[in-house]
Amino acid sequence: RNFLIINGPNLNRLGKREPGIYGAKTLDDLQNELEALSATLLMGVSFKQSNSEGEIIDLIHEADGQFQGIVLNAGAYTHYSYAIRDAIASVDVPVIEVHLSNVHAREEFRRESVIAPVTIGQISGFGFDSYTLALYAFNNHFKGDAI
Ligand code: DQA
Repeated sequence: RNFLIINGPNLNRLGKREPGIYGAKTLDDLQNELEALSATLLMGVSFKQSNSEGEIIDLIHEADGQFQGIVLNAGAYTHYSYAIRDAIASVDVPVIEVHLSNVHAREEFRRESVIAPVTIGQISGFGFDSYTLALYAFNNHFKGDAI
């Protein structure tokens, strides 16, 4: 099975961006860790980053029929993009929402996710492990299926 990992706005700045909140490791480090895990779990992963809402929407549309699941860190779009929410609802691909930081322990505006209702679940606060936990969750989600 193949999974798409989408990182949204400002996540290309990982390592430089507010390291006290997001850590010192970079997006390349994240990609390397997830590629290593995907090999162990015998799953394929593709890795995309975009700062633009429309591009993220296009990636979600294009995933339909191509990927069995999406791990999505929509960054700040999480909190207000009805367009990304509608894109998720428009495709037949399960989405797991992830965040590096614990969005519930920060500013009030980060506590709301407008995309959460159209995902199968949210993992928040575990740094890079939020993504690895999502891959494990997808691995278990499809366990027992024929293909
Ligand atoms: C984030 C949390 C968001 O509130 C923030 O806007 C981000 C990163 C996280 O991974 O913790 O850009 O999604």
